[in-house]
Amino acid sequence: MTKINLKIRPRRLRKNELIRSMFQETYLSPAQFISPIFIHDGSSPEVKINSMPGIFQFSLDRALKYIEELKENKINSVILFGIPDSKDNTATSGWENDGIIQKANRKIKEHFPDILLINDTCLCEYMDHGHCGIVMEKEILNDPTLEIIQKTALSQAESGADIIAPSGMIDGMVSAIRSVLDDNGFQDKAIMSYAVKYASSFYGPFREAAQSTPQFGDRRSYQMNPANKREAIREALLDEKEGADIIMIKPALPYLDIISEVKSKVNLPIAAYNVSGEYSMVKAASEKGWIDEDKVVLEMLTGIKRAGADVIISYFAKDILKLLKKFY
Ligand code: PBG
Repeated sequence: MTKINLKIRPRRLRKNELIRSMFQETYLSPAQFISPIFIHDGSSPEVKINSMPGIFQFSLDRALKYIEELKENKINSVILFGIPDSKDNTATSGWENDGIIQKANRKIKEHFPDILLINDTCLCEYMDHGHCGIVMEKEILNDPTLEIIQKTALSQAESGADIIAPSGMIDGMVSAIRSVLDDNGFQDKAIMSYAVKYASSFYGPFREAAQSTPQFGDRRSYQMNPANKREAIREALLDEKEGADIIMIKPALPYLDIISEVKSKVNLPIAAYNVSGEYSMVKAASEKGWIDEDKVVLEMLTGIKRAGADVIISYFAKDILKLLKKFY
């Protein structure tokens, strides 16, 4: 063999565990994870969600215990989704004083004053037609919806939410919420905007979990076309201008390029939502024994972080600490 004088050898920094971990560029921390929680208005402690093994609709009391479990796993931040007893065409159960989320906020804050409490501010779970806005003749109306979003955000803030997270992709939702919060003395409540939310089929299992499937049509007149990238920048910049504090991109895995691009264009923290379909695919393949769940989850979440997400909303949040102990 002729002598090869190879001066540059990237493998030097991959030689052993010590040197590999020293030069690892991306680390996960439970502090940067948000756990979704589904809370229903009934007494049954846990209602199984078939398409999301390991995830449940909890009663309020059971949800409190779950938060304790999360805290033991160093997860101190949750985003709530409500499953109300009744639905109508003005999403009343989403903004009334004794709505499930409002009750949950008060109780959670009473038991855990130090939990970071985020509320999803959408109407689809509370609307009888399952859409994220006021419907007239099968159209989702923009400006009349803003009024209901304001009412919802205000009642969430009043009952204890720290962060309001509008997810309806309704134009002007961030400025509408900012102004109603400020007018009512809630200048300090932050807005995490689902600024870049795609009309994705990866939400399928969530809709079973939250019982929020649209009863007619789909969400493509408000959520974004998965083929579009420049539009994502436009949406993100717009929400930054409207006063959002955090920009969310959703889903995460099929949109890593969007996370990276938006991160470079806005001066706000970026959140990525590792959505229900992303969770369920991993669970299903792992149940079949086709993948190593723990390793796949760690790789997937690291990829989302590496792409530029500062925080990650994930149904795997509860498992992070265990994974880090196992692999780091
Ligand atoms: C409400 C909402 C949805 C999700 C979060 N908020 C569903 C949707 O837009 O249909 C999806 C979350 C997930 O799939 O995990 N609009």
